Amino acid sequence: MKKVVLAYSGGLDTSCAVRWIRDTYDAEVICFSAFIGEVSDRKLLAHKARSAGASKIYIEDLKAEFARDFIRPALWAHAKYEGKYPLATALGRPLIAKHLVRIAEKEKADCVAHGCTGKGNDQVRIEVGVRTLNPKLKIVAPLREWGFGSREEEIDYAKKHNILISATKKSPYSIDKNIWGVAIEAGVLEDAWKEPPEDAFFVTRPLSRVPRKPLYVTIGFKDGVPVSLNGKPMSFVSLIDRLNRLGGQYGVGRIDHIENRLVGIKSRELYEAPAATILHLAHEELENLVMDREFLHYRRVLSEKYSELIYYGLWFTPLKDALDQFFAAHQKRVTGTIRMKLDRGNAVVVGRKSPYSLYSEKLATYSAKDEFDRTAAEGFMKIWGLPYEGRVQRTEYRKQK
Ligand code: ARG
Repeated sequence: MKKVVLAYSGGLDTSCAVRWIRDTYDAEVICFSAFIGEVSDRKLLAHKARSAGASKIYIEDLKAEFARDFIRPALWAHAKYEGKYPLATALGRPLIAKHLVRIAEKEKADCVAHGCTGKGNDQVRIEVGVRTLNPKLKIVAPLREWGFGSREEEIDYAKKHNILISATKKSPYSIDKNIWGVAIEAGVLEDAWKEPPEDAFFVTRPLSRVPRKPLYVTIGFKDGVPVSLNGKPMSFVSLIDRLNRLGGQYGVGRIDHIENRLVGIKSRELYEAPAATILHLAHEELENLVMDREFLHYRRVLSEKYSELIYYGLWFTPLKDALDQFFAAHQKRVTGTIRMKLDRGNAVVVGRKSPYSLYSEKLATYSAKDEFDRTAAEGFMKIWGLPYEGRVQRTEYRKQK
């Protein structure tokens, strides 16, 4: 191993990893940091990486790419793992894998590395992604290899080697954050019976501190993509940022989930995803308005599968690509406006409209304006029930009761 590209966050683990890889494998280490959440201090990040022994650092703002190529397809697929987790972290990993490979190839490195632990899903997502894109690259996962038994040992190691680490007190939780959501685990959350304490939340307010009056917002969609908020045109990324802030103020998007990890463990995970919660609801509702029953029902089945593929790290795979095409097929119709109410922890759709709407008041109404042909209903039921006519004897039916 000569040259390694490491996915670098600037935290204690990846900072120690720089030095550890250099010393253990006698290799040059190049760091790569992707901004898909808050943009942190570039200078400080570069300074930290250098102090740990990196020869070079790539710092790239990839939020627009993340939104366009990762969040958008997940939104179209209504992807929520086990019906709950909007997959923020899981969507970020293939993006990181893709760029690790790109930089490794550009730098003629023979290896990539990451700071994921050995019992999570993220190692799978990064490593399967890297292998799919370039199987020649070796992969190092220092956290699976090194012998540090505790955080204190890591801190001692950093001090001994003059590695710059943040002075801020370590949170009692393990957190991963990007624009599609925050994942929070460990600490007291490991007790599945305990209610999460307020200090476990970072972007959503508790109900005791949300505004008393609800807030109405309208979200405009064009070709399946949210393009405006309250009539004001906005980039996808700005809209997500804005909804995270607004939703967070109203306590929208808290999720408490016992989830089934790919590596076999059940884990208790908290998520905060105000924008993802709001946009999923809005997009689903608009699709409900413009698509027919059979499409909508079948789509749910595929959404489930799609969410699994993302969670399982199978992003760069044929089934995933094929499903993307399925979900993309009718997005042109998903154009219109959704009106929502943010109210004490809830986001509720209260109105919807679209030039492609299939909803017909004349057919739905119970008033005198009704145009539904009731006389046709009788024949419909005779035919619909024909295969079953007389199938169950009265005696049998009585027995069942
Ligand atoms: N359980 C989630 C997943 O597998 C989130 C993991 C994020 N990591 C963290 N340090 N909280 O996608």
